[in-house]
Order: sequence, then C-alpha cells, then structure tokens
Amino acid sequence: MNLNSKVGSFELANPFIAASGTYGYGTEYGDLSPAKEWGAVILKSVSRNLRPGNVPPRCCEVDSGMINSIGLANVGLEKFMAEKLPAFAAENPDATCIASLAGETLDEFLYLAENLSKAKAIKAFELNISCPNVAKGGMHFGADCNASRQLVSEMKKITSIPVWVKVTPSTTDPVGVATVCAEAGADAVVATNTIPAMKIDINRCRPVLGNITGGLSGPAIFPASLRIAYMIHKALPKLPLVGCGGVDCGEKAVQYILAGCSAVEIGTATFRQPDTLVQVKKFLAEYMDKMGFKSIEDFKGLAARI
Ligand SMILES: Cc1cc2nc3c(=O)[nH]c(=O)nc-3n(C[C@H](O)[C@H](O)[C@H](O)COP(=O)(O)O)c2cc1C
Repeated sequence: MNLNSKVGSFELANPFIAASGTYGYGTEYGDLSPAKEWGAVILKSVSRNLRPGNVPPRCCEVDSGMINSIGLANVGLEKFMAEKLPAFAAENPDATCIASLAGETLDEFLYLAENLSKAKAIKAFELNISCPNVAKGGMHFGADCNASRQLVSEMKKITSIPVWVKVTPSTTDPVGVATVCAEAGADAVVATNTIPAMKIDINRCRPVLGNITGGLSGPAIFPASLRIAYMIHKALPKLPLVGCGGVDCGEKAVQYILAGCSAVEIGTATFRQPDTLVQVKKFLAEYMDKMGFKSIEDFKGLAARI
C-alpha cells in the first residue's frame, strides 16, 4: 500500500506529521514514537530569544481534549541551533524535520528564517501566525490579512525552504487569511491551531490556568477544525493543505484527506496514546484497501467535490 503523500512538491513517506509543541525538540519520545516513523515532525515553535512561557498551571484536561497556555516557552534560536537541532539530527538521521517559527514582529520572523535556512536538517518552515504582532498592538498576525500577506511575501524573498502557514481559528475569516497567504506564495496552509478556551475550578472559585485562558486541542476541536480545512480547500482547491486539530484515530485523519488535505498533523492524541501513529497508519492502509484507493491522491478532496 502506497501511503506516500506530497504537500505541494514536499514529499512525505506517509501523510502524518507530529504537530508543533506536542513533539518537543524531536528527541523526547524516543522509541515510544520514533521521528522516522512520521511523515515529518514539527519541532516546538522557536523565537529569537528564550521564552520562559506563562505562569503555571499551564495545562488542564477537559472533556475530549486539553487546554494549554504554554505561552510558547522555548530555548530561543541560539540554543535551538547549537543544541536542539544537532541533537535531533544526530538521533534521527532518517527523519524529516520542519521548524515552527514564532515571531512577534515581521523582522523577528525574517531573522528566524534567515538563520534557520542555514540548518541542513530543516526541510520546511511552518509559520505560527497565532502570535501577537507587537507592531499592531498585539493583534495576531493570523487575524490580519495585510500582516499575513506581508509576512509570507517577505519570507519567500529570503528563503528557498518551503513556507507553510498555520492559520488560526481565532479569526472570523480563515479562508481570507489562507487566500492572501496563497497569493503571497505560501507553499502550503495548515488548518488549524488551537481554539481559545478556559476552565474554572469551582472549589477554588478561580480559573484553573495561571494565564486564565489557553488553547483547546484534542478531539473536542476536530469538527470545527475540519470545517475550516474544508472551506479553505473549497475556496482554494489548488493550494496544498494540511489538516490539524483533534485527530486521535484513522477515521478522523481520513476525513481531513477527504476534505482536501494532503497531510494531517497529530498532537494531543499522542500524549494520551503514544502509539496513535501506528494505529492511524494501519487504519489508513486498511481503509484504502477496502475502498480500492491506490494512493492518497485517489481520494484527496473527494468530499469537497459535491
Ligand atoms: C502542549 C501544547 C503545546 C503546543 N505548542 C505549540 C507551538 O509551540 N506552536 C504551534 O504552532 N502550535 C502549538 N500547539 C498546537 C498544536 O500544534 C496543534 O495545532 C493543536 O494542538 C491541535 O492539534 P491536536 O488537536 O492534534 O493537538 C501546541 C499544542 C499543545 C497541546
């Protein structure tokens, strides 16, 4: 069974990608979920400087998912390039690695891309545009079509590495954002990131998370994320698309492919079930066999053609 997939010209041995922030710096899972078994792994979002992240508690469980307010805690670009990437590359010579970039300004994004373009291990960039844009009073890049367009077009001028844009569901117009990113030359769009959420501790009479609110992930967001991916594919059928949000079984992964996605990111499910990847691959192969599909292309986007 051929599980190969292509996101634009980017080739993957299988369509499953470890989602940023849920697979650390690519070494933590070890043999529990080896990097080389994934089509690709996206490392934790990196910013120019070290970020300590938000005050704890930073995670809590909710029905069918979790809320996190990690606050993009990361080691910063210098340590990422000097320690984390080499450690990943040494342990995983056969894995495909994508870097996730988190900038608070256009210049920070460009600085990250310029430096990370020198790293041989990185095969694509995923822009985390759910970051506040300091120049626009903290408004998310991803909620601002002009900022998103400028970000992608400037990025494409300075790097030859494929640029994927992870759109945020926290905008009224994710299709509009995907459209301007495509026009600006994005190689792919990823739909989507976490959905803003909160939980309150009724015994302590206060929010559970130190940051009060956070991002909801896991099965709870699957139908909402799937809808956004579907709408983007309907509007932009030629744009390479990656689904992300809520996949914890093969059946949900297949839904993203039927909606028009060439690949599917998986995050929260691997926390709960470290062999999720094994299960989704098995399901996909069996599903394709049962349906008579020889390749991902045979059924990608079929549900969007009605
Ligand atoms: C603990 C945690 C940390 C995350 N950190 C990042 C991050 O650094 N950058 C990013 O783009 N997304 C981050 N995400 C979002 C995931 O990459 C993914 O978009 C989201 O969790 C939805 O997918 P899932 O339902 O399969 O987990 C994080 C999610 C979780 C649960």
